[in-house]
Amino acid sequence: MNFLELCLKRSSIRSYTDEKVSSEDLEYILKCAQYAPSAVNYQPWKFYIVESQEGKSAVQKAYERDWFKTAPLYIVAVIEHSESWKRKTDNKDHGEIDIAIAVEHICLAAAEKGLGTCWVCNFEPQIIKDFLKLSDNQEPAVLIPLGHISKDFQQKDKQRKTLKEIVF
Ligand SMILES: Cc1cc2nc3c(=O)[nH]c(=O)nc-3n(C[C@H](O)[C@H](O)[C@H](O)COP(=O)(O)O)c2cc1C
Repeated sequence: MNFLELCLKRSSIRSYTDEKVSSEDLEYILKCAQYAPSAVNYQPWKFYIVESQEGKSAVQKAYERDWFKTAPLYIVAVIEHSESWKRKTDNKDHGEIDIAIAVEHICLAAAEKGLGTCWVCNFEPQIIKDFLKLSDNQEPAVLIPLGHISKDFQQKDKQRKTLKEIVF
């Protein structure tokens, strides 16, 4: 599989089986996040693996969707704002860019392993902050359900703008 094929293979998966993700696959996926680039190599991130029933219930409360509940585990990607690079000229915090790269590494690595993920940002952050006991400098940025893809899941064709529309 070349990189374009991997990009096409990765899709937002919104239905999982209850089969567990192996610890080997999980470690491989997290290693791919570890090697993501970040501004000034500050690596301002933490990844919380949520697999316990109590933890999963808390995460599911933050994003109440039936499909989301089917995932056997969640990765919560957290920005450490106290560690992120701020550009001198305008103080722009690059933590969000850094976490986005690492999260996409996770999603692509999972796709390579035949596993499914979905970026989820439309969640209630306070519920996650309380559950993980995060400090004010720590922002839960993305919830990533991770699991084996359910056979009934209907993959949609990718809807994308043309290169003509986006390249200048
Ligand atoms: C920053 C970001 C936030 C997203 N948040 C959600 C979300 O809260 N819930 C959801 O179901 N999908 C979410 N998505 C998934 C997008 O809807 C999806 O990536 C897009 O429709 C393209 O489809 P594809 O991922 O299958 O290629 C998000 C994606 C990104 C990049």
